[in-house]
This record gives sequence, structure tokens and C-alpha cells, in this order.
Amino acid sequence: MNICVIGSGYVGLVTGTCFAEFGLNVVCMDKDEDRITQLNEGNIPIYEPGLEELLKRSLREGRLTFTTDLKAGIQQSLVIFIAVGTPSNAEGDVDLEAIKEVAASIGQNMNDYKVIVTKSTVPVGTGQMVENIIKENQSEAHSFDLISNPEFLREGSAIEDFMRPNRVVLGSRSEQALAIVKDLYRPLYLLETPFVITNIETAELIKYASNAFLATKISFINEIANLCELVDGDVHQVARAMGLDNRIGPKFLHPGPGFGGSCFPKDTHGFAHLARSKGYNLKIVDAVIAVNKNQRERMVDKIEEAAGNLVGCDIAFLGLTFKPNTDDIREAPAIFIIQKLIEKGAKVKAFDPAGMPSARQVIPEVEYADDAYGAVQGCDLLVIATEWNQFRNLDWGRIQKLLNKRVVVDLRNIYDPSRMRELGFAYTSVGR
Ligand code: UDX
Repeated sequence: MNICVIGSGYVGLVTGTCFAEFGLNVVCMDKDEDRITQLNEGNIPIYEPGLEELLKRSLREGRLTFTTDLKAGIQQSLVIFIAVGTPSNAEGDVDLEAIKEVAASIGQNMNDYKVIVTKSTVPVGTGQMVENIIKENQSEAHSFDLISNPEFLREGSAIEDFMRPNRVVLGSRSEQALAIVKDLYRPLYLLETPFVITNIETAELIKYASNAFLATKISFINEIANLCELVDGDVHQVARAMGLDNRIGPKFLHPGPGFGGSCFPKDTHGFAHLARSKGYNLKIVDAVIAVNKNQRERMVDKIEEAAGNLVGCDIAFLGLTFKPNTDDIREAPAIFIIQKLIEKGAKVKAFDPAGMPSARQVIPEVEYADDAYGAVQGCDLLVIATEWNQFRNLDWGRIQKLLNKRVVVDLRNIYDPSRMRELGFAYTSVGR
């Protein structure tokens, strides 16, 4: 079967490459010519472990192609995935321009029955809007069906999440379209992956509700961590004991500087905004957003307290990305914290295994080092802001010699407080 994926960004590339791996013929489209030329040569514009090998293999074997020719892609495919970006503004209003443009092109170029699948995270009601736009733009009447199939891909483990998902959500009114799209996912039946079949609106809602709930777990445990600091509690023991209750579950209860990335911040704002536009206040989601904002600010205070005085203080920063195994610095707590520290008079020297090229664009005032020890050299204080594996086993003997004062602020709780104190460090973490 031939399918096409419109939008060769993060979601589109992972989706297209994984479907090609399932044996389908996939054409991925993007209007960025440069990107398409690079992709046809096997060069991927994002950092995602495992993606490049899969993509190169399918390219070589001819199951995967990249093009800017939207018309040909649409006409030769039965199923069309929409995976374009849906950025949001500060109020959480989601920008649907790219989706509208694609829907119009699909209408104009349609030559036969098509199944149109929305992968992008979109506000409830977008499916209906896409249907209307396609109809308005059709030059000849062709039947088509819509499916909402939200993605639940984590950066850094997106291939695994696609190949072994916890569930696949499909929202549609058409039995025929559902049968066609279920067939694309057939390899997952062997793994007994649950398929949740709903109407389009419910599928759109499931994506937002899932991300908002995960974000709620994080903000919840961050508040417990803050309380632990006031009552001499240990948040990890609290989280472990809570997580042993099957109804709660152990995941997403890791305290830290708050959530970042391209999804949780955008989707929580988008969800709250969507509800407000319908006359309903999602009070819990509003609180999750407020707690997350506050958590970043608390981290700045924590570092200031550890430093004594930030003016002229040289701070080494390990980790810039919003989490490990990605080069993504969007909404990364580290970036916000560094900007605040610089505003308050500190100087920052940083190292990140993958995030430095983008960080240089956003915070050029920072000095960038070649490795962790280069960042620490000559600084007064060390902050660990992202839990990359290579920061989990630092040579503390070496760091003692390089750092002016033995002060460490570990925003991801990757070290043991008593061990760090034994080593002679003034060590602060979150909620312990
Ligand atoms: C998330 C969702 O997990 C995914 O299903 C969705 O489709 C897209 O958004 P992603 O943004 O890649 O994926 O990252 P994730 O691993 O979920 O982490 C998000 C943020 O939460 C990171 O900043 C991470 O550091 C933080 N986090 C996560 C915590 O602070 N504590 C936790 O316990 C878990």
C-alpha cells in the first residue's frame, strides 16, 4: 500500500520511517526543499536515536522517498497523514495555518477516495474543520474519510514508542477508513497492542488529556518535593511508596526543575485555552502550568542560595536540553534558569552533549565547553540541569581540583546526598 506523510518534521519523519519499516511504500513531503534534498541523501535534521539507520535502510530499499511534490504524493497514496507543526502562542491559542494549508491542497489535488489521518496535536474540532476545508477546495467530488490518530512519541525513544506503543487511538466515523488504517498498523497486532476506537473529537481529546495528566504527575511531585524541603522529608521515598500503589504507578513522579520540551508546555496551555473557549476552566491544568513556572523560579533561588552572591559568580552548567537523548532545547528549564542567572549578574560556562548548537543561538552570552570538565574548570559552582548518562558518573576527584568552591546543585537528583557530603561537597538537590 502507498501512503504519504505531509510534514517531515519530528512526528512526520518518525511516522514515515516506521511505516516504511513495516513494509509500506511511504512518501514523505515537506515544502522545505533543502530539508528534502538532505533527507534523500539520508541526512536527518533531528536528533533521534535509531532513526537514521532505519531511514537509510528504507531509502536504500526504495520503500521510503522524500519529495516536495505534494500533488504527486497525494495522488499516488490511499492514506495521507498530516504531521505538520501546530505551534501555540503565549495564551495557548494553537496556530492551525499549516493544517489549513495542507487540507486545502489535499482537496485541490484529490483524484480518488482517500483516507486523511491527522497525527498533529490539534484542538478538538479540528477534524471537522479539515473536512470542511477539503470539501470547499475539491475541484471534482471525490469521497474521503477522516481519522484522528494522535501520536504519543517521546523524544529520544520515539522509534520504540511507535513500534511498541501502549495503545493506538483511532477516531473516525467511517468503518472503511478504520479498517484501512488498522491494516497499516497490522504488525502491532502480534504484540497485542490495544486499539482504542472513538469518534474524532474524543481521539483529539485523549491526546490532550493524556499529556495534561502526565504533566500533572510531574507538577504534583514537584510540589511534594518543595514541601519535603520544608519538613525534612525525602521526596524519592514518598514517590516510591506512592508508586507502589498500583492505582498511582511509579512513572512520571521524578522531581526536578519542571517539565519542558515541545509537547507538555504547549499542550497544557492549548488544553486550558480550548476549555476556556468552551466556557470551562480546567482548574487542575491551570495549576499544573503555574506550578511548573514556579518550579523553574525556585531553581534559580536554590542556585542563588548555594552561591551566596550571584554577582560575578562563575557557574558551570551541565545539561541544556529539556531532557537527555535529544538536542531539543525548546522550553528547557536549563535555558530559562541560565537566562535568569545571567540577568542577576552570574557568568555561565556550559556543556551539553547535543544541545549546544541550538543553545548558542538563544544564549550566546554563555561560554561553551568541550566536555563536562572543561565547563567546571575555574567555576565557583556546578549545576546539573539534565540527567544525561555521561553526567551520572562524574570523576569527583577531578572536579574538586577544577572547581573553585565545592558547591554542587543537582536539579535532577542523580547523586546521593550523603555520598556527596562525604566527598566534601556542599550539595543541594530537589526535595531531599
Ligand atoms: C511527551 C510525552 O511523553 C509524549 O507521549 C508526547 O507525545 C509528547 O510529549 P517528550 O516531550 O518527548 O514526550 O518528553 P517526556 O519524556 O515525556 O518528558 C517531558 C518533560 O517532563 C521533560 O522535561 C522531563 O524532564 C520532565 N519529566 C518527566 C520530569 O520532570 N519528571 C518525570 O518524572 C518525567
